[in-house]
Amino acid sequence: MTEITITRPDDWHLHLRDGEMLRGVLPASRDFARAIIMPNLVPPVVTGAEAAAYRDRILAARPEGQGFEPLMTLYLTEGTDPEDVASAAASGLVTAVKLYPAGATTNSASGVRDVAKVMGVLERMAEIGLPLCVHGEVTDPAVDIFDREAAFIERVLDPVRTRLPELRIIMEHVTTRDGIDYIAGSGENLAGSLTVHHLILNRNDLLVGGVKPHFYCLPIVKREHHRAALVAAATGGDPRFFLGTDSAPHSKDRKECDCCAAGVFTAPNAMAWLAQVFEAEGALDRLEGFASLNGPAWYGLPPNAEKLTLRRSEAPLPAPEALQTGAGPVVVFDPGLPLHWHVVA
Ligand code: DOR
Ligand code: ZN
Repeated sequence: MTEITITRPDDWHLHLRDGEMLRGVLPASRDFARAIIMPNLVPPVVTGAEAAAYRDRILAARPEGQGFEPLMTLYLTEGTDPEDVASAAASGLVTAVKLYPAGATTNSASGVRDVAKVMGVLERMAEIGLPLCVHGEVTDPAVDIFDREAAFIERVLDPVRTRLPELRIIMEHVTTRDGIDYIAGSGENLAGSLTVHHLILNRNDLLVGGVKPHFYCLPIVKREHHRAALVAAATGGDPRFFLGTDSAPHSKDRKECDCCAAGVFTAPNAMAWLAQVFEAEGALDRLEGFASLNGPAWYGLPPNAEKLTLRRSEAPLPAPEALQTGAGPVVVFDPGLPLHWHVVA
């Protein structure tokens, strides 16, 4: 197959930032009709009013002709008011609430230290059917960074699901076989999103032959057998798995420095790399389900009416150039392999 047309995809996990960076990176998500927008700004997007204001800034930053719809999320804190969440959901302003364990990742300092303190909000969300997006890593310094996802499932996710089985939860950017198996063994209320970079990179790619800051993200990329489990889940047709790129732009100087920020910027070429991953598995017929159908179905939204066409070229494409933004250049994901797919329309 050298060309494939699918329902236009959505990105179920995207960082757009704010200000100059927002204006610079938003056009790079042009392949996607909608995206779940992460609320980890500084300060974070906690209240319905803050989400409404951020949504307006995103809409104002859209270039002419980009019909992109931001699906807003609220950043869960231990002080979050359940009624504010409920009214933001009722008005259609927010699509989900995001749980960051405090200290787990970029701009997560205001996140949750003790899940018991947000139980009131989670109960209200379960009542009204509002999904919870989770960054599934513990922050206990005694837990090795490569084991933090598995520990989160055991210590946090499973107890929350036992206590509130009706709560709809999406485990975002799943990076381990443990996460895949846990979701596969659960019911319809638990889904998992997968990034493009975690489908392609393992920890050798990050560390062997020199540390690659542009492959550093959280949760960190894992061993090869975990990556293989992610690819099997993405291409396997289970509707509880879908695309959330976690495209997370940082300026080049924040990546290439003493303490590199976590995040991989995949928005510009996510769909091309995804097509390549699916082709390698002989699963191009399942690309549409993973990128365009499973996510809307889980969130209870209609699939997009528009289409997206990708084409395979015999000669590999040139390596991507950094995206120039008013907040500095942002290096685009490049795993260093030949890429044959590109979006044509
Ligand atoms: O790599 C990451 N970058 N992981 C996250 O959870 C946050 C994100 C960011 O905001 O840069
Ligand atoms: Zn993220």
